[in-house]
Amino acid sequence: MPVITTIDDLKRMHKRRVPKMFYDYCESGSWTEQTFRENTSDFDKIRLRQRVAVDMTNRSTATTMVGHDVSIPVALAPVGLTGMQHADGEILAAKAAEKFGVPFTLSTMSICSIEDVAGKTTAPFWFQLYTMKDEDYTDRLIQRAKDAGCSALVITLDLQILGQRHKDLKNGLTAPPKFTLPVIADLATKWGWGMEMLGTKRRFFGNIIGHVANVKDPSSLHAWTAEQFDPALDWNKVAKLMEKWDGKVILKGILDAEDARMAAKLGADAIVVSNHGGRQLDGALSSIRALPSIMDAVGDQVEVLLDSGIRSGQDVLKAMAMGAKGTMIGRAYIHGLGAMGQKGVTAALETIRKELDITMALCGRRHVEDLDHDILLIPEDFEGRWKEN
Ligand code: GLV
Repeated sequence: MPVITTIDDLKRMHKRRVPKMFYDYCESGSWTEQTFRENTSDFDKIRLRQRVAVDMTNRSTATTMVGHDVSIPVALAPVGLTGMQHADGEILAAKAAEKFGVPFTLSTMSICSIEDVAGKTTAPFWFQLYTMKDEDYTDRLIQRAKDAGCSALVITLDLQILGQRHKDLKNGLTAPPKFTLPVIADLATKWGWGMEMLGTKRRFFGNIIGHVANVKDPSSLHAWTAEQFDPALDWNKVAKLMEKWDGKVILKGILDAEDARMAAKLGADAIVVSNHGGRQLDGALSSIRALPSIMDAVGDQVEVLLDSGIRSGQDVLKAMAMGAKGTMIGRAYIHGLGAMGQKGVTAALETIRKELDITMALCGRRHVEDLDHDILLIPEDFEGRWKEN
């Protein structure tokens, strides 16, 4: 096994191993990709205070997230089409998460179904819900997640319609891929991926195929979202979904203090400060830049998690020191999965754990729960000064 020192190492291997259409699906943002880029570059603007002569023995990165004991404050985020990055991808990622002691979140738009993942794992996972126009189908999805023992429902609020990612349109993204000439030429160089795919029957949207009728192209994410997702989702509907679930709820896709207040008022157990990895509203603030105003608004009322831009343990540390109780990673683990399957997901988590542990120690802290503003140097204009609306 190659020596992996950063998530970037896994990203390079992911790119070499996986068909272009799926690598591109992972590694893109909407329109100009400004928000996608700033999600990472804004983390780089925050510097750390080096502290010395502090006892560094007995360190711990363990804490809790939404009532779960975790070995590091990192959950695997819901990612569509994960089973196209590697055969049985969702099952492998869930297994890696279970062994590492962090939560796994299964996307509605996964390839392996809720039942597939539940059947191959023992730790309860979180289920991410997209609400569909067909209310019966949404209700059935919720019931299936309950039957599978899912321990939290993650309701995504920032994708009632899909942001445009140019590469997906140009690549003709579908799951499974359609055999056009460019796809055949690309697959010829990705035979390892192809052989593994031939060895699994899970190549379609597993939560959907066979459960809903009347979709023009059941292999296209774009067709699905346009035809099936409920554009009328509003706070009343969110409240109803929370009632139906009657368990822990995480509201994901909050980037504005007013929305955060609504989520807290509804009684969410946690919110995820997120711009969907820069895949939805291009031009929106990066998550880390939006975090302080949301902490001010609801930090004492609801557990605040953050995703979008986390590529290292240092990023996790910065988000925690700015008040988040935990983080979610998407691309960082997908690069590992695409590179090396389950081992690659473990390698991604281990890379982040090491970076977090060593950085924490060099900042003079021994426990992840003791991280606070004091260890950070944040530029004065970090949040930006905007005209009042
Ligand atoms: C779906 O969640 C996507 O961002 O493609």
